[in-house]
Amino acid sequence: MKMILLGAPGAGKGTQAARICKKYGISHISTGDMFRENIGNNTELGKLAKTYIDAGKLVPDEVTLAMVKDRLAREEKGFLLDGFPRTIAQAQGLKELTELDCVLNIDVDTDLLLNRITGRRICPKCAGTFHVSTLESNVCPVCSAELVQRADDNEETVKARIDVYNAQTKPLIEYYGENVKTVDGNQSADEVFEGIVKVLEAI
Ligand code: AP5
Ligand code: MG
Repeated sequence: MKMILLGAPGAGKGTQAARICKKYGISHISTGDMFRENIGNNTELGKLAKTYIDAGKLVPDEVTLAMVKDRLAREEKGFLLDGFPRTIAQAQGLKELTELDCVLNIDVDTDLLLNRITGRRICPKCAGTFHVSTLESNVCPVCSAELVQRADDNEETVKARIDVYNAQTKPLIEYYGENVKTVDGNQSADEVFEGIVKVLEAI
C-alpha cells in the first residue's frame, strides 16, 4: 500500500501513522522526523531546515522533494507519507515519482490543536508520542527515559504552523478531490484508528 496522510499540526498524523504502519507492515516516512534527525546530527540539511522549522514555516519545496525522492528510491515495501506533501508543488512532484493507493485526511477542529501540541511530550529513546493529560510523570511509560518537548511546540510557533497549514496545505484536500478519504480526528486515538482501518479495509 502507498498512502499519504494529510492533517493539520497536532491532528494525530504521527500517532495514527505508527499504528497504521504496524498493522499493515509498511514504512512510516515522516518528513518532519527526517528533518529533526538531520537537525540532531547537525547536517547541512538539518542546519537549513532548522531555520524554517523554528519559525513555523515550511522548508522549501525543492529541498523537501529531493529528500523524499531519495528516500522513496530506497523503498521496497509499501509506505505511508506523514506530513508530505504539504504544498501543491510537492503533490505535483510526488505524482512524478509514484502512484498512490490512498489519500487519508484526519480532520480536527482548530480549537483542539493548540492544546494537543503544547501538551505533547516525546520520548527521545523509543520515539513514543504522549500527551501530558495522560502522563503521571515526565518519564516515558514505555521505556522510562526522560520525556522532552519539541522545539517548535511552543504557542507562538504552533499558531504560525496552523496559519501555514491553512494557507498552503489545506488546499491539497481540494487538489486530491474525490480521492480524499476523511476521518473524524476529534475522537479518541483508538476511535480515530478504528475509522482509519474501516477506510483502509474498503480499499
Ligand atoms: P511535522 O513534524 O510534520 O509537524 P506537524 O505537521 O506540525 O504535525 P505534528 O507532528 O505537530 O502533529 P501530528 O499530526 O503528527 O500529531 P501527533 O500524532 O504528534 O513538521 C514539523 C515541521 O517540519 C513543519 O512545521 C515544517 O517546518 C517542516 N516540514 C515537515 N514536512 C514538511 C514538508 N513536507 N514540506 C516543508 N516543510 C516540512 O499528536 C499531537 C498530540 O496530540 C500528541 O500529544 C498526541 O498524544 C495527541 N493526540 C493525538 N491523537 C489524539 C487524539 N485522537 N485525541 C487526543 N489526543 C491526541
Ligand atoms: Mg507528527
